[in-house]
Amino acid sequence: MRAIIQTAYGAPEQVLTLAEVEPPTPARGEVLIRTRATTVNTPDWVTVTGTPWALRLRFGLTRPPSPIRGADIAGVVEAVGAGVTDLQPFDAVFGSAWTNTLATPGTYCELAVARDIQLIRKPDALSFEEAASAVTSGLTAMIGLYQVAKVQPGQRVLINGASGGVGTFAVQMAKAMGGHVTAVCSARNEVLVRSLGADAVIDYNREDFTQGDARYDVILDNVMNHPPGRTARALAPGGLFMPNSVGNSGGWFAGLPRMARAWAMGLTGTRVGFITCVLSRENLTALAELLVSGGIRVVIDRTVPLEQAAEAVAYMLTHRARGQIAISVG
Ligand SMILES: NC(=O)c1ccc[n+]([C@@H]2O[C@H](COP(=O)([O-])OP(=O)(O)OC[C@H]3O[C@@H](n4cnc5c(N)ncnc54)[C@H](OP(=O)(O)O)[C@@H]3O)[C@@H](O)[C@H]2O)c1
Repeated sequence: MRAIIQTAYGAPEQVLTLAEVEPPTPARGEVLIRTRATTVNTPDWVTVTGTPWALRLRFGLTRPPSPIRGADIAGVVEAVGAGVTDLQPFDAVFGSAWTNTLATPGTYCELAVARDIQLIRKPDALSFEEAASAVTSGLTAMIGLYQVAKVQPGQRVLINGASGGVGTFAVQMAKAMGGHVTAVCSARNEVLVRSLGADAVIDYNREDFTQGDARYDVILDNVMNHPPGRTARALAPGGLFMPNSVGNSGGWFAGLPRMARAWAMGLTGTRVGFITCVLSRENLTALAELLVSGGIRVVIDRTVPLEQAAEAVAYMLTHRARGQIAISVG
């Protein structure tokens, strides 16, 4: 099968190449999927570039053991492993192949394996590209706003990084929950975030939300470009800060120290909520419901063919994507 394989850590165009490899075999509890679409998320560029370097301790010192990147997937079941009873060949499915181990098998390939407990049937109303693009970013926004923050009608919600993969879902979901939504992005994305439901827009090139007078009940920070203590000053009394970024790709630690400081603030009185993207069927079903009947749409910046996966990861690294970057396979 055709696959994009990674030969070392480095710039995407230099270390990701198209190759012919043996297809995987589904083990017990796994499903073999003919990939129709996948996408680019933060773990993909982190594991391609090997930055922040500290994360090599987790993902592999010289390169990740598994050569194929990608985790979110939509496709058609080709075969099922032992013990899989509720999915069968020809079912259209979507979900994630992420295993939280060094052995995540990858989805930038024509045939991928994923655990059945991280897959559900794809609603007909969603294209394969929309379904794959929604998984990690949509679940992160959904878990953050519905399960961690539990946004209440009338609450003031600020989304920093409102025009990105997570942000475009978060703006819509916070609005759907009845929040008053302030979106922080650059001026070129104002029309987009207003079309998603933002009540107010702050252009970060003209105004620093941490220095203004406005106070927010919930701050979802997908950028972490301000020291957490400064961001927390924009919280209303009792407000919740959700730090959600390892920052850009630079250096040894990138945004990790800021995440650590945000965590420490949680010990000294600030309400801090971290988002863990739980890839369960229950969460995927709730997300699908929001996408099919809840008025939440998947914003896709661009769709590229599998051969251009390196360009897709490089584009993600610019941190300028509007919504998600989809990779179409087959
Ligand atoms: N907790 C989890 O499980 C989980 C899961 C997925 C992702 N994440 C985290 O979520 C974060 C966001 O991911 P993403 O995929 O949404 O990122 P992304 O798509 O790369 O974000 C790109 C967007 O960020 C905006 N942006 C860049 N600099 C900005 C600034 N200074 N202020 C406001 N907006 C700015 C850009 O808009 P402009 O072009 O207008 O600047 C662009 O639209 C990542 O850092 C990742 O670590 C966490």
